Amino acid sequence: MDEVILEAGPLNARYGKVEALHGMKLRVAPGQIVTVIGANGAGKSTLLNALMGALPTGASCAGEVRYQGERIGEWDVEERVAAGIALVPERRELFGSMSVIDNLRLGAFRRYRAREPAWDDGLERVFSLFPRLQERINQAANTLSGGERQMLALGRALMGRPRLLLLDEPSLGLAPLVVRGIFRIIDELRTTGVAMLLVEQNARAALQIADYGYVLETGDLALEGPARELAINERVVESYLGLGKPALR
Ligand SMILES: Nc1ncnc2c1ncn2[C@@H]1O[C@H](COP(=O)(O)OP(=O)(O)O)[C@@H](O)[C@H]1O
Ligand SMILES: [Mg+2]
Repeated sequence: MDEVILEAGPLNARYGKVEALHGMKLRVAPGQIVTVIGANGAGKSTLLNALMGALPTGASCAGEVRYQGERIGEWDVEERVAAGIALVPERRELFGSMSVIDNLRLGAFRRYRAREPAWDDGLERVFSLFPRLQERINQAANTLSGGERQMLALGRALMGRPRLLLLDEPSLGLAPLVVRGIFRIIDELRTTGVAMLLVEQNARAALQIADYGYVLETGDLALEGPARELAINERVVESYLGLGKPALR
């Protein structure tokens, strides 16, 4: 069997009586970018929060989640973070009044607390990926532009040296040009060996950088396949890529 870092499903999740995921399955291999595309309300955030063990109270999830061969379904968020899973949430959840550098350091807090001698050694890499953050090192997070906030949220997640990065709609609310910049960096992150699960409404941008993709429709897995094939799939083109040219590499 191929090497797998994450294997989940079939997963069912619900908020009280509302079913948000039904039989969703996916696999992510080391160093891969896997995308889950779907419209607003399809269940994308529910999926990532379920994988992170971070569903809100009142929500429930059933189904197997295997990470690096271990069943982690019963693990809490802290244990998943310690094992190398990081989530960049849809609401970036930055500390608005704190500076860029302090937000980044907080991303390495677990490593600091574990007394890792090189706990903040991720700073150099984050600044080389995002020179704009280095230029704004002492600026408060809530004074950054939307794109810079997304960079900071990504940078903060990288400070914990994750093996698996869960990205919840990094394109949300950003202008097309800014989206392109962020996605170029996500694509570059591949070279660091981190595996990524990217959920997106912006199917065009996501399928351009992903290796493999899943299509989520109102909680159901509607389609899956290599991203290149999904990008020219008739149903995907019609429902998610509009009338423009399909996204080709
Ligand atoms: N906290 C919640 N309480 C109740 N229903 C929720 C909650 N969060 C999401 N839902 C419902 O679950 C479904 C999937 O939502 P979500 O995972 O946020 O979709 P997406 O991220 O794809 O936009 C939607 O029908 C949404 O209304
Ligand atoms: Mg969402």
